[in-house]
Amino acid sequence: MPKQSFFVTGALGCIGAWVVRNLVHEGMDVTVFDLGTDPHRLRLILTADELAHVRFVAGDVTDLNLIERSMTEAETTHIVHLAGLQVPFCKADPSLGARVNVVGTVNIFEAAKRVGVKHLSYASSIAVYGLSEEYPETVLSHDATPKPRSHYGVYKQANEGTARVYWLDDDISSIGLRPYIVYGPGRDQGMTSLPTKAMMAAALGKPYHIPFGGRSAYQYTDDVAKVFIQAARADFQGADVFNLRGSVVRMTEIVSAIEAAEPNLSGQITFDDKPLPFPEDMDDSSLVDVLGRLPYTPLTYGVAETISIFKQALEDGRLSSDALK
Ligand SMILES: NC(=O)c1ccc[n+]([C@@H]2O[C@H](COP(=O)([O-])OP(=O)(O)OC[C@H]3O[C@@H](n4cnc5c(N)ncnc54)[C@H](O)[C@@H]3O)[C@@H](O)[C@H]2O)c1
Repeated sequence: MPKQSFFVTGALGCIGAWVVRNLVHEGMDVTVFDLGTDPHRLRLILTADELAHVRFVAGDVTDLNLIERSMTEAETTHIVHLAGLQVPFCKADPSLGARVNVVGTVNIFEAAKRVGVKHLSYASSIAVYGLSEEYPETVLSHDATPKPRSHYGVYKQANEGTARVYWLDDDISSIGLRPYIVYGPGRDQGMTSLPTKAMMAAALGKPYHIPFGGRSAYQYTDDVAKVFIQAARADFQGADVFNLRGSVVRMTEIVSAIEAAEPNLSGQITFDDKPLPFPEDMDDSSLVDVLGRLPYTPLTYGVAETISIFKQALEDGRLSSDALK
């Protein structure tokens, strides 16, 4: 394989840390481009030796010149764009949310064009869809109409439009991916991180209550990261965006998987059986058509591995019990 140099934005975040881990394990060059400077999620899943192979740029996706310079310096061949502010942050400051999520994404496409990278993968979200009652079909189709109900969802939909125009005007092709509930080590902020927090509580031997339930699509963060990498490497012409699926399960199955890993906690992980307002299930066959077989970690294995990584990190001090708060 010719030398590949990956430029990963938002790589100090949950999905990004797993993207970096996979690329380092493959021996690829990786540049982390992130506004933050705290590598705690990376430390949770990479050794200090592995981290030493990563190039770090502390930068803001609203700064086009810095992105272009950093991509040039890294001799970037592949881009995974994950940087963004999540739902509560966009709600609290919509203007900042739009700058980071919308202008930031325009900047990544523009920088790709300037440095001659002709294809990239980027994170959209299930939040482009509206409330579940607006979608009568039980399995959301690939081309279901976006009707976002949050600023965050509107910004993600705008990014999908940006991707389309960069393909039409500049031949920059792209694959956007719409994750739903991502779980696993590193998932520590936002409402849908609470099932992962319950796994952390299990690692600490503590009870935990999740204030929602219902049936949803859960995907292990290692699988999500691998799909973003596959999508960045795909020989794909066009600008399309795909739903991610993973395991579509009820909250009882999440709790059972936690109890299977930690039988002593039986009955201590509880939840309110209120469903989330998003469509429950989605068709990911179009993505399989484009990328081939997708990585899939069975739920029980992903949950057990998450608890085991948390336990190890609690034991050696890389994770504090305060992380549960
Ligand atoms: N985790 C999920 O369940 C989920 C679901 C749907 C979509 N997504 C999308 O996937 C992407 C990654 O999600 P995640 O869970 O890893 O998010 P995260 O919040 O853990 O990480 C986001 C990263 O972006 C960085 N960032 C924020 N503003 C920045 C800026 N101005 N410039 C550069 N970096 C900046 C943050 O420092 C952080 O490290 C995001 O775009 C998110 O919207 C995630």
